[in-house]
Amino acid sequence: METLSRWMFGFLLISLTGAHGLNNFPEKFVVAKRNVAKPVTLTCGAKSDETVTWKFNGEVIEESEDNVQKKGQNLIVSEVDTPMLGAYSCWRGGEMLSSTYLFLEDEEGDDLDTLLRCRAKSYDCSFSCVWTNSKYTAVRLRLGHECREDHESCNWISSNSKRDSNGGFQFEVSHSLSPYAEESTMLELHAQAIDNDSMLRRTKRFYLRDIVQPDSPQIVRCQEVEQDLNVTIDPPPSWSVPHSFFSLEHEIEYILKDDGRTERSSSALIPKRISKLRVRSRDSLVLSPWSQWTPWKNVTH
Ligand SMILES: *[C@@H]1O[C@H](CO)[C@@H](O)[C@H](O)[C@H]1NC(C)=O
Ligand SMILES: *[C@@H]1O[C@H](CO)[C@@H](O)[C@H](O)[C@H]1NC(C)=O
Repeated sequence: METLSRWMFGFLLISLTGAHGLNNFPEKFVVAKRNVAKPVTLTCGAKSDETVTWKFNGEVIEESEDNVQKKGQNLIVSEVDTPMLGAYSCWRGGEMLSSTYLFLEDEEGDDLDTLLRCRAKSYDCSFSCVWTNSKYTAVRLRLGHECREDHESCNWISSNSKRDSNGGFQFEVSHSLSPYAEESTMLELHAQAIDNDSMLRRTKRFYLRDIVQPDSPQIVRCQEVEQDLNVTIDPPPSWSVPHSFFSLEHEIEYILKDDGRTERSSSALIPKRISKLRVRSRDSLVLSPWSQWTPWKNVTH
């Protein structure tokens, strides 16, 4: 009964203090699988073999508790369920030796493709991603194949305080692919997300060329050439150079003055008698998605 009430107290503590979930990733954590009877081992990491004590959410754990057992300096937690999730710490006297957060694996979450949208404005050294689901309180990403575990360049990119107006998280991910080389291996993007005391872990693999979508181009000028208008279009400033190598194709949409019809052209020469026009671009080699349209430009002459 006493055990139960302590767990209940711990649960209440989590419920009260953790109602909004963690906003940061604990340095050390263990993720227990759902509905798997296999116990989880939390390691203390003490250097000597002195006796240590374990605390859960600040409360000393007694030897007699049902689902936790001390084994040497380690703590074995079995039948992991909601009330047992949270911060475990290992102590020698008044000194905290380590702290481990116990999560439950979130297996029900959506596919990463629906949670995370990535887009590259060019073939240059970074791309951006948006984590769209706002129920997660912390999200982080890292590119897998660029780094080995515990390698310096292998830092996680954290979402801390970068929520957009829809509650999503924004990321800017750097990569070291050469823009000139044929891309032969897929990028491997790892994501971790915390929802209450559950952790979702997913990996997404894709080619950079598959997420390229240029910004809107620029309308430089319109020149009359006999019965036509010659529209000069420049790539967006964010696009990769040289433009002869990273070629874009453009599409012009225009409204005819005479009958108000809307037409499109992939040629730079369009009829002269139009009221306004706008343009968009895409990578002509990989046929990327089209950019956004430029704003309408009124044509007066
Ligand atoms: C997380 O907590 C909220 C309330 O704080 C609850 O509505 C939601 O169902 C919880 N999610 C999970 C996966 O337990
Ligand atoms: C249209 O303009 C571009 C430069 O802005 C020029 O190179 C091209 O020759 C022009 N086309 C015609 C048909 O005049």
